[in-house]
Amino acid sequence: MRIGVLTSGGDCPGLNAVIRSVVHRGLDVHGDEILGIEDGFRGLIEGRARVVGHDDVTGLLTLGGTILGSARVHREKIDWAVAHAHQLAADLGIDALIAIGGEGTLAAARKFSDAGLPVVGVPKTIDNDIDATDATFGFDTAVHVATEAIDRLKTTAESHQRVLVVELMGRHTGWIALTAGIAGGAHGILIPEKPFDIETVARMIEERFARGKKFAIVAVAEGAVPVPGTMLFDHGGVDQFGHRTFGGIGTRLADELEDLLGKEARPVILGHTQRGGTPTARDRVLATRFGWHAVEAVHQGLFGHFTALRNTEIKLVPVEEAITRLKTVPPELWAECESVL
Ligand code: F6P
Repeated sequence: MRIGVLTSGGDCPGLNAVIRSVVHRGLDVHGDEILGIEDGFRGLIEGRARVVGHDDVTGLLTLGGTILGSARVHREKIDWAVAHAHQLAADLGIDALIAIGGEGTLAAARKFSDAGLPVVGVPKTIDNDIDATDATFGFDTAVHVATEAIDRLKTTAESHQRVLVVELMGRHTGWIALTAGIAGGAHGILIPEKPFDIETVARMIEERFARGKKFAIVAVAEGAVPVPGTMLFDHGGVDQFGHRTFGGIGTRLADELEDLLGKEARPVILGHTQRGGTPTARDRVLATRFGWHAVEAVHQGLFGHFTALRNTEIKLVPVEEAITRLKTVPPELWAECESVL
């Protein structure tokens, strides 16, 4: 078979490991030809692609980013591509497509499959918020980077007796902030699932200093929101993709805490550092397994399905199971973590 592969949406450590695995499994076991489509759905629409062989994937297991390039594409463009799916597949001469992406990509997988371009999805996001899979690759790496950052921030915070507010990725869910916050021993963790009260955060810090501690670290997810009316700032709008945007919660929180506490507070925005660089061992393994199973799914005709980790097994699950709701931090887990801060 001639199988197209593309990476779509924000990049994520492990994408290259999936591409490598698809090439190995496809070429070595099935005698497929793998066509790497450049820059996600943009390349599909523009017919930009190249054959990817063994030499192209040498060393990819450890390489962050994606050799194919990625892009966020507006929903209207994807709808256009779906309407022309048959033609796009014919132009590239592909029998099927493995699309590695987030919920938008998975949602499109079903539509493309119905419209004449059979697609198997592979979920990716550092945010860990895709439902129906126990994990997505990239998350473990992001948590690792964020935890290391918190570890490092502690020494400088203590030297200057400061409050450091670390803003971590997580637009809609707080998985990275919660996990790295617990692993790094942050003193406060703020996540989108639970609006926070800045007075409570300030009180926690005051009590800490009163106990003789010399610093405090607050881990805040970029999508965390204050209880309405409790902070001064307006926290954002909606971008062209319909995602909420934020006006820098970390910076605003540090500013307001400094005023409330009369202590030095500084924001640290970790940003895209969390998405860059080499994937952890765990992410490499998950990405490799997803690639392997995606090729098998193509050969079994499981289109409109995506690879999902269920306990220790990889299952092929209908994409609808991933796109109906986000996987958020459950209240019980939050309560458990909050109790150990
Ligand atoms: O969805 C993954 C993610 O890393 C979010 O946590 C973050 O809000 C967003 O991507 C940033 O996207 P961009 O790179 O397009 O600014």
